[in-house]
Amino acid sequence: MQDNLINVAYIFAAILFIMGIKMLGSASTAVRGNRISSLGMLIAIIVTLLRSGLDYRFITLGLVIGGLVGLIAAKRVQMTGMPELVALFNGFGGLASLLVGWSEFEKSAEADWFLYFVVFIALLIGGITFSGSIIAYLKLSGKIGGNAVVFPLQKLINLLVMTGAILAGFLLVFNVGENSSLLVWLLIGLALLIGVLGVIPIGGGDMPVVIALLNSFSGLGAAAAGFVIMNTVLVVAGCLVGASGLILSIIMCKAMNRSLINVLFGGFGSGDTASGSEVEGEMKALSVEDSYYVLEAAQNVVFVPGYGMAVAQAQHVVKELSEILEKNGAEVRHAVHPVAGRMPGHMNVLLAEADVPYDQLCEMEEVNSIMPTVDVAIIIGANDVVNPAAIEDESSPIFGMPIVNAHQAKSVFVLKRGQGAGYSGIVNTLFFRENCRMIYGDAKATISSMVAQFDN
Ligand code: TAP
Repeated sequence: MQDNLINVAYIFAAILFIMGIKMLGSASTAVRGNRISSLGMLIAIIVTLLRSGLDYRFITLGLVIGGLVGLIAAKRVQMTGMPELVALFNGFGGLASLLVGWSEFEKSAEADWFLYFVVFIALLIGGITFSGSIIAYLKLSGKIGGNAVVFPLQKLINLLVMTGAILAGFLLVFNVGENSSLLVWLLIGLALLIGVLGVIPIGGGDMPVVIALLNSFSGLGAAAAGFVIMNTVLVVAGCLVGASGLILSIIMCKAMNRSLINVLFGGFGSGDTASGSEVEGEMKALSVEDSYYVLEAAQNVVFVPGYGMAVAQAQHVVKELSEILEKNGAEVRHAVHPVAGRMPGHMNVLLAEADVPYDQLCEMEEVNSIMPTVDVAIIIGANDVVNPAAIEDESSPIFGMPIVNAHQAKSVFVLKRGQGAGYSGIVNTLFFRENCRMIYGDAKATISSMVAQFDN
């Protein structure tokens, strides 16, 4: 196929990627956006395979094995296990960039400094992404401890290893040809070590931010690999992933009122974080039967889903209860906090799966403006994202994090199994308020019982 034609097809694929990403920004167009981006990727793959001089035996083998592993993993993964799966996918993306850089280095008889420079970047970023993602996966899946691992002189050691890797890259690029195989081995070893050292000091709960960042890295690694093999669409797609992963990491940090530096180097979750002021008062329990009378009379209801809704897989019964309340004359909204759950868009995905109408999904700021007029706020397995300590208690570790102001509603029902803390491990002052009642039990079972009350 003519090179010009291939490049035109690549530009078309890149346009589809960009259009797709734009559409992913809104729930109502997200599915179409996903399809459009996938079409772009299909075009890019087909056009690449039409290049002359390819050995189709290995490509077919790779496609079949990779496709099968991806298909089985995507089918079997639970929604709560999605961050682990994404971590593994990022890791393999990084490994692919590393291998592309390495093989081009081995193949290049007459290399120039630019090739060695992009090989250096592909090896460095690919290696960091691979080992860092594997550690993130092991932490998230509980295969190793999830706490931040900190030890004396850690930052100095990290700095030395990083300096060593940059020095090895410098020598590789500027002494083209001399001892370069040894330098490449050294570089790969140091990159893998940086990935491990970079991720172990990060607490398990901060791992979603790290995964978004590693996703960004995997994109940059792919872009470097694109330069290595001079493939335009790989450069464009890699840069898009690099930029969107970085933007996502920053959005997540903002929603937790943390800086990226604090997440990466703060050691949050190593056990030495403050726990906030003592709370006075007591938590008051309520039965499902008694909650019925309040819900039955409510004119304005807001559901606030959190991580517990994902654990309980309660989204379908939430939809059922919200329909019943609507039929009963209430106005219903679902308030989605940007970091509710354990991954970006976690609650949106679950509620969309249950077919909750998009116009009922409200962002935090929107719902906060009407919260004082809300009759009942039903908190479903959310904890940190509704903790008023975040806006009232300066000594709280989560002080400054924007929250859904559920405490301002006339009545608040909190659905959770017991008195366990949320991800941050701190006490929620909302649970002790006069207008708050705890309805203990698994969220799905509790909401099913509420639905049954209306049916009787
Ligand atoms: P959390 O604060 O983690 O609280 C979840 C609550 O769900 C727990 O208190 C737990 O209480 C309850 N729960 C667990 N299983 C349940 C079940 N089967 N039925 C009912 N309740 C259940 O959740 P959140 O409010 O969604 O906050 C998310 C946290 O994760 C934030 O601190 C956020 O900063 C952090 N984080 C999020 C992200 C993203 S991108 N979403 C990224 C990094 C960090 P019981 O044990 O008593 O049931």
